[in-house]
Amino acid sequence: MKQNKKRIISGINPSGNSLHIGNFFGAVKGQIELQENDQYETYYFVADLHALTTIHDKARLLSNVKSVVLDYLSLGLDPKKCIFFRQSQVVAHSQLAVVLANYIGLGQMKRMHAFKDKLQKGVEIDSVNMGLFNYPILMAADILLYKPYGVPVGEDQRQHVELSRDIAERFNRTYNTEIFSLPEALINKNVGRIVGTDGQRKMSKSLGNIIGIFDDPAVIKKQIMACFTDPNRKKATDPGQVKGNPIFLYHDLLNQNQKEVEDLKNRYRLGQVGDVEVKEKLFLAHQNYFAQAKAKRQQLAGDFSMVEEILTEGAKKAGLMANQTLSQVYQLLGLK
Ligand code: ADP
Ligand code: TRP
Repeated sequence: MKQNKKRIISGINPSGNSLHIGNFFGAVKGQIELQENDQYETYYFVADLHALTTIHDKARLLSNVKSVVLDYLSLGLDPKKCIFFRQSQVVAHSQLAVVLANYIGLGQMKRMHAFKDKLQKGVEIDSVNMGLFNYPILMAADILLYKPYGVPVGEDQRQHVELSRDIAERFNRTYNTEIFSLPEALINKNVGRIVGTDGQRKMSKSLGNIIGIFDDPAVIKKQIMACFTDPNRKKATDPGQVKGNPIFLYHDLLNQNQKEVEDLKNRYRLGQVGDVEVKEKLFLAHQNYFAQAKAKRQQLAGDFSMVEEILTEGAKKAGLMANQTLSQVYQLLGLK
């Protein structure tokens, strides 16, 4: 008997040229775990249309897409177990977004964080890019096309997933249908918002407070050595604070030698270890944690045509599901 699997969808915006550990622990790792679970059918895509809000340079867009695709595949995304594709190759995403814009009001759109953040940063309302303003509608289309059970993302995407639920509810009510599922945001409480190396804000590429994954070891080392620790600790012999200290949070995530982590924490509390040693050990743990992924990435980068085939195949499969939903929607609306 064919088992009815719960569908999962998530996307990654290739607005940067590589992933950081916040992306990995907050979103990617959970996405990969879902792919391994037989209960789920997983769809993951590179949201290249979403990247147009910030990238207006062909070479940069192509290179970012390539890089994020390689990152994902080397970190363990397995195209045999999930459907992996580029958003722009499944045209139904754009088509459904045009439809969904009619089932959401201006007021709710104005409350979306990404838009509000722009205004807060002093950007004139009249110069806000309409692609950015509409971003959550395209994202709702990305999600609703696949009638998913859940959307694994980091905490900062919760509002977007909730908006897609609202749109789905309104649409379903209007046409007295249950065509759209009401998706859940699947957010891991402990790692849904990894703090950046400034010790304050969310780790984010636009804030420059990241620890990368595949960057040159010298770059990673610099990022780690610059990390905020306990500001009250002036010398290595001062007792230090472990709780809430980002360097130890990163150790908990990356260092597979638990004994070493416990020893460092104990000595830190007692004032028996310097920040430099804690950071150097973190750097080594980082290199160790991602060693396999780095080797895989090198291998994949040498055969990118194979990677392109994976994406083309993925788009074909995703297109089947997406076009079916779009066609049902068109029928309900009177467009067919
Ligand atoms: P960035 O903020 O660096 O631009 P993205 O917006 O591209 O990151 O996020 C990609 C995915 O990673 C999303 O699912 C997002 O929720 C998640 N994510 C980003 N930053 C973090 C973080 N600091 N902690 C946890 N998850 C994060
Ligand atoms: N907005 C997401 C981000 O910035 C990327 C994204 C686009 C997405 N469409 C999606 C995530 C659909 C989940 C589902 O990271």
